[in-house]
Amino acid sequence: MGEGPVQTGEHADARIGGGHARHVAIIMDGNGRWAKKRGMPRAVGHQRGVEAVRRLVRGLKPMGLECLTLYAFSSENWKRSEDEVDDLMNLMRKFIKSDLPDFVANDVKLKIIGDWQGLAPDIVAMLEDALAQTANGSRTLAVALNYGGQNEIARAAAKAAVLGEVTANAIEAQLDTADLPPLDLLIRTSGEIRLSNFLLWQAAYAEMLFVDTLWPDFKPEHLTEALDDFARRERRYGGR
Ligand code: FPP
Repeated sequence: MGEGPVQTGEHADARIGGGHARHVAIIMDGNGRWAKKRGMPRAVGHQRGVEAVRRLVRGLKPMGLECLTLYAFSSENWKRSEDEVDDLMNLMRKFIKSDLPDFVANDVKLKIIGDWQGLAPDIVAMLEDALAQTANGSRTLAVALNYGGQNEIARAAAKAAVLGEVTANAIEAQLDTADLPPLDLLIRTSGEIRLSNFLLWQAAYAEMLFVDTLWPDFKPEHLTEALDDFARRERRYGGR
């Protein structure tokens, strides 16, 4: 006892390599640039972005991933043009309607994080139905809608305060992601290197990967590659 750093806790054996990632999150960026490069409207880029999401949903189980969290609409995205916001909301409606059977068939459980109850009432109703229909899935697809990391932390802290305990553990237990595995890997596409208010708390010990691929070009192979890269990384959690 007392000689050198003591390695205890659930993360102690992860120091050899990242091991098998359980929870990956993605900032899906570059739809607009993908479309611009082809002289197409931004809306087409978003449509192709949805196809990239669809490919990953089908790959979750084969890849052995427990949870994938996607940044679909940030609380700052309301600042985009009204037309673009409408396009994104309509894509969301279409996606849920068309892909719900696919979720069930692929054993995927839907989860929504963010202030999503403030979205259009028909979208809220569709999401509630989708949550109920996918409740038994063994893989989680968490979609961040009207999400902001600072807002999530503030909401969690307020709930913790009401319960009378404002500690890191107590706040964490109130985050939208409280029932998900710890975040292992955060990926951002399109070459931008920033968090844009996504999963700020959860990113504390996550590995980060920034890739140049534009989101509509992102394939399950890219995720497999990222998981392999993660498995080789050494995670220290503040230790030696
Ligand atoms: C970033 O591209 C992407 C978004 C703001 C939205 C992401 C949304 C989707 C992939 C489609 C909807 C998702 C679901 C789950 C139905 P950008 O427009 O910022 O691209 P740019 O930086 O190249 O302009």
